[in-house]
Amino acid sequence: MSVFKDAGHLFRFAGLFVLAFLIFLVVRHYVVPKSFGQYGHYRAAALGEIAAHPAKFAGHETCEGCHSDVADKKSKGKHAHVNCEACHGALFQPLPVTGQPKPNLYERFVALIVPPAPPDPLLLRHAEDPTSVKPVLPDTTVLCARCHTASTAKPKGFPQVVPADHSNGMPCDTCHQPHSPGMDAAAAPDATAKAAGGVK
Ligand code: HEC
Ligand code: HEC
Ligand code: HEC
Ligand code: HEC
Repeated sequence: MSVFKDAGHLFRFAGLFVLAFLIFLVVRHYVVPKSFGQYGHYRAAALGEIAAHPAKFAGHETCEGCHSDVADKKSKGKHAHVNCEACHGALFQPLPVTGQPKPNLYERFVALIVPPAPPDPLLLRHAEDPTSVKPVLPDTTVLCARCHTASTAKPKGFPQVVPADHSNGMPCDTCHQPHSPGMDAAAAPDATAKAAGGVK
């Protein structure tokens, strides 16, 4: 025993480490979510939770199913690869959330530390109910400038203008048809028809 004669303080210290490690294991057992690590270094249940959020975008194929006239015109013009929702947005209307269960004591306590995310509203989507959700048509002065305002950061080949000089404050759709904006031969008949008060 003589070797350990003066080592008592080291054992006490080592004991403290072991105790702290055990406490760590117990706490870890309770705070690490059950599905952590199932697929990788993340919480597997998060996948289901994210998938359960209501989809806001319908996808341009859905829009084109009903608005085939717009799709036809667009497919022949310079905006063929700019899809509907890039300009029109997702076109949904959130409905008020009703019948939320009251939080219990534990949930209210947790909410003090981690403010809860607002509940997902029910969505009424134009693509499913076109008459109830009436789209607001985009304001071209704002919309077109968002992509086409000249900037040195944009690729040289991308068509860009200085809106103030280019349009003199006129809305862009005075001259360009948004669904086929080019000023080439393909778009010209449309422009003539619009000028003559015909179809857009
Ligand atoms: C189920 C068929 C259907 C689908 C899918 C659909 N729409 Fe519509 N959309 C309509 C109908 C019908 C109207 C006319 C509604 C009215 O006037 O009350 C309309 C109107 C519009 C208008 C307004 C037209 C105006 O003159 O004010 C826009 C813009 C529009 N849709 C864009 C879209 C976009 C973008 C999508 C895809 C996210 C889409 N629509 C999907 C049927 C559909
Ligand atoms: C580059 C932006 C842009 C894209 C992409 C776009 N739109 Fe539009 N759309 C507009 C603007 C701007 C108006 C409003 C025109 C106006 O006020 O005269 C409009 C108007 C409409 C209208 C009203 C009727 C009309 O023809 O003017 C419908 C319907 C519509 N869009 C559907 C669609 C659908 C469906 C798609 C995808 C196939 C689409 N749009 C893609 C910008 C766009
Ligand atoms: C989401 C971004 C986006 C928005 C919004 C947008 N555009 Fe475009 N626009 C593009 C892209 C991408 C092209 C194709 C560029 C190419 O061919 O390299 C294009 C092409 C064009 C061209 C053709 C230029 C040429 O080479 O002849 C014109 C004109 C144009 N847009 C005008 C408009 C007008 C007017 C609006 C508003 C109604 C608008 N754009 C809104 C992305 C956008
Ligand atoms: C008074 C009519 C008129 C108005 C308003 C107008 N444009 Fe144009 N735009 C034209 C004509 C004509 C051309 C083709 C000749 C040219 O390249 O300058 C053109 C060309 C373009 C091009 C292609 C430039 C290139 O380098 O190929 C873009 C992008 C464009 N316009 C965007 C817009 C945007 C964004 C608006 C709104 C802020 C707008 N235009 C408003 C008449 C107009």
